[in-house]
Amino acid sequence: MDKLIEKEIKETISFIKSKTKLKPKIAIVLGSGLGDYTNHLKVEATIDTSTIPHYPKSTVEGHKGKIIFGFLRDTKPKKSVPVLAFQGRIHYYETGDIRTVLFPILVAHQLGIKILFLTNAAGGVNRHFHPGDLMLTKDQVNLTFENPTAIINGNKKINKPIYDEDLIKMIIKIAEKSNVPLSEGVYVGVKGPSYETASEVEMVRRIGGDAVGMSTVNEATLASALGMRVAGISCITNYATGVTSAKLDHEEVTFVANMVKDRFSKLVSSIILSTNNL
Ligand code: HPA
Repeated sequence: MDKLIEKEIKETISFIKSKTKLKPKIAIVLGSGLGDYTNHLKVEATIDTSTIPHYPKSTVEGHKGKIIFGFLRDTKPKKSVPVLAFQGRIHYYETGDIRTVLFPILVAHQLGIKILFLTNAAGGVNRHFHPGDLMLTKDQVNLTFENPTAIINGNKKINKPIYDEDLIKMIIKIAEKSNVPLSEGVYVGVKGPSYETASEVEMVRRIGGDAVGMSTVNEATLASALGMRVAGISCITNYATGVTSAKLDHEEVTFVANMVKDRFSKLVSSIILSTNNL
């Protein structure tokens, strides 16, 4: 790894470890409008990322910039799962520096995270999708044209699925059991920050995309390369441009994400509680 980042990560980790003794194996990155999920945790420590040495700053509304250590509790059977939650993330378009996007993933890895859930708000490209739907990521296309593994291993080739196949199977079963409708599809990550044109959305559809968004793909690739099991859940907050004639704005995205939060939370909690047995 880049020597400077390695040094920074060390300082970041020692700061975080001075704030909590909790050692979660599971982490979740909460995307636009989904940050309130942490209300379901019994919080042990909340760290404002602006106080953490070297931690990049998020500037997007709906992204709180906190990392939270807490327990997710279940009553039947009684158990308590330690969880690390990232409230908000840094998007590539905010800084133009891929290292700021990847920094939290390197931190998660150094903290000993083995399973990473990446969530996001996304536009529905698949014509069967509607605002408020949840989509499990089967695979992704990275249209940011970055390759984040360069940060850790130079030019070594990695060839394995990014999204963990056992997790995918398990999540589909859990969604069925908990009666939470869940679609599956391919997430296409673009740089943004402006929304796509109708022609770009048509391109995304033709290359096999079901949903489009401005995050996740680089984080997922790096996390998987680092050996974490990765799963992705998109909250479809809007029809992507051109799917309907409706105009699109960030307010709508956070509004719909907010609307879905009960279903989203129910699904995420059931997944985390089962994942603990994986
Ligand atoms: N496009 C890109 N990113 C998004 C969208 C979209 O339609 N909705 C939420 N994030």
